[in-house]
Amino acid sequence: MTAQIINGNEIAKQIRQELKEEIAKLKEKHNLIPGLVTVLVGADPASQVYVGQKEKTSRDLGIYSERHDLPADTTQKKLLTLIDKLNKDPRIHGILVQLPLPKHLNESEVLYAINPKKDVDGFHPVNLGKLMIGEPDYLPCTPHGIQQLLIRSGVKIEGAEVVVVGRSNIVGKPIANILLQKKEGANATVTVCHTATRDISFHTRRADIIIVAAGRPKALTADMVKEGAVVIDVGVNQVGTTADGKRILVGDVDFDAVKEKAKAITPVPGGVGPMTITMLMLNTVRAAKLAAGLT
Ligand code: GUN
Repeated sequence: MTAQIINGNEIAKQIRQELKEEIAKLKEKHNLIPGLVTVLVGADPASQVYVGQKEKTSRDLGIYSERHDLPADTTQKKLLTLIDKLNKDPRIHGILVQLPLPKHLNESEVLYAINPKKDVDGFHPVNLGKLMIGEPDYLPCTPHGIQQLLIRSGVKIEGAEVVVVGRSNIVGKPIANILLQKKEGANATVTVCHTATRDISFHTRRADIIIVAAGRPKALTADMVKEGAVVIDVGVNQVGTTADGKRILVGDVDFDAVKEKAKAITPVPGGVGPMTITMLMLNTVRAAKLAAGLT
């Protein structure tokens, strides 16, 4: 079997088109313009690229966009003061502080300072707690994007054996929680594997859906996959640079070998990646509607 390639660019484009239409209607009917602010501390090149993409996508969709670039030596106090100001700004419905922050800053304290109603990343403990009990306001963007890739590719999630490889707070734990809920597009049996799992392939070999967020190239090889499984690759590993200085990226899955066994698979790039920013836009629209009492 050669796998169907799940095209993240195409699915992200579809969702962005839906959002663009919704944003135009919000403006026309309610004079409501969703607003997103990005905060970048320091000049990490990858983070600069991500923040630039978020800003551009916001503008393309008709979202009001603001960007704060702060120097790498910004103090905790200064950053918290900015967040406090943004929490109170009525034009801003979503606040995104790009991670990772420089080492001298306390990341948890910064994330906790964001008003949960403006936490479009879905990283605040209030939002993660609401997700866990099945009453989410915002789903974290990458896991939400994964769920949408599965749903919009026609993958049956209900009753499926899902194995997640990786237990990060950003991907592994939230995607496990999302797919576990007794809801449409979920209701799976979920297993989470991690660095202390005795035999990861024992679990992945019986999975209908494998989601790999291990942060390591070839963490999932063909011998670990059941014939006909669906494979979602969340990995973004830089393995070199091209002659003109572009980053060479690979996922966590041995794509060429696994695609011969899987029923469907996401590529890297062009799979999960484009979905993350799109779901951030969706959360920003949701934040604006919640603030205006429209949901
Ligand atoms: N850094 C890498 N991924 C993310 C993300 O989803 N949100 C934020 N804020 N920072 C990130």
